[in-house]
Amino acid sequence: MHDLRMPRRSFAAMMIGGMLAAAPVSWAAAPPEAASCVACHGADGMGNAAAGYPRLAGLPAKYIADQLRYFADGTRNNAIMSGMAKPLSQAQIGVLATYYAGLKPSGKPAPMPAGAAASEGERLALRGDWDKGIPACIRCHGPGAVGVGENFPPLVGQSAAYIEAQIKAWKDGSRRGDPLGMMHTVALRMSDAQTQDVAQWLAAQPLLPVKTSKAQP
Ligand code: HEC
Ligand code: HEC
Repeated sequence: MHDLRMPRRSFAAMMIGGMLAAAPVSWAAAPPEAASCVACHGADGMGNAAAGYPRLAGLPAKYIADQLRYFADGTRNNAIMSGMAKPLSQAQIGVLATYYAGLKPSGKPAPMPAGAAASEGERLALRGDWDKGIPACIRCHGPGAVGVGENFPPLVGQSAAYIEAQIKAWKDGSRRGDPLGMMHTVALRMSDAQTQDVAQWLAAQPLLPVKTSKAQP
């Protein structure tokens, strides 16, 4: 199994790659390519928490493009998105990735559900669980889990159900393609209770603008 403290060099290369990426730009109007995405991901790109459609607004462009290719080639297994991604050309993927990366995230965090183990979720997100070899989420996803560079997407602004579903997908192998298998390794070490706690905590955090520089893992 991967030692998550080891891949320092590749890790540093990815962080630097991210810092060199262009700052998000604001688009006045959606490109025609996005017309079929709006129904699920919303005109504001913030998705639909109740339906399990994730936020795209302000995600790193490279990350969005990678995910669209993963859905198309089955690296990431999802029937809906596979159908959406397969017909897209590389040029269309580029347009969509740039557009959604440039949208400013908006909206309010979800309320913490009654009976949620908020302190457990917070501990895992901010400090990790080193007995089980789980690093803090913010180590890679940045302070406030607002994302870092092109490889580490924000977690805030995603629904608890979506976050939970992704951890489970990495566990059962239906989501792959994560650099160095980082999330697969993290997910395998998380219990179902930890997954739920941290997902509920993250979904309830304030939505901050995505930073593409300065933040350290
Ligand atoms: C019918 C609803 C639907 C439509 C239409 C749709 N999506 Fe999705 N999208 C989803 C769902 C559901 C997921 C979560 C899939 C999963 O759990 O792996 C998703 C996930 C994604 C992701 C991954 C986000 C992340 O945080 O990893 C991207 C990128 C994406 N969609 C882009 C698009 C684009 C671009 C379009 C238009 C070409 C589009 N989607 C159209 C439902 C939809
Ligand atoms: C060692 C670095 C690392 C750590 C620690 C880490 N992540 Fe990740 N995470 C990643 C990377 C890299 C990706 C992007 C995967 C990809 O590109 O497919 C990711 C993606 C995700 C996603 C998918 C987001 C989306 O929009 O689909 C979720 C959810 C997630 N991580 C949750 C967590 C949680 C919860 C923790 C803490 C328990 C955590 N991560 C800790 C590296 C890490």
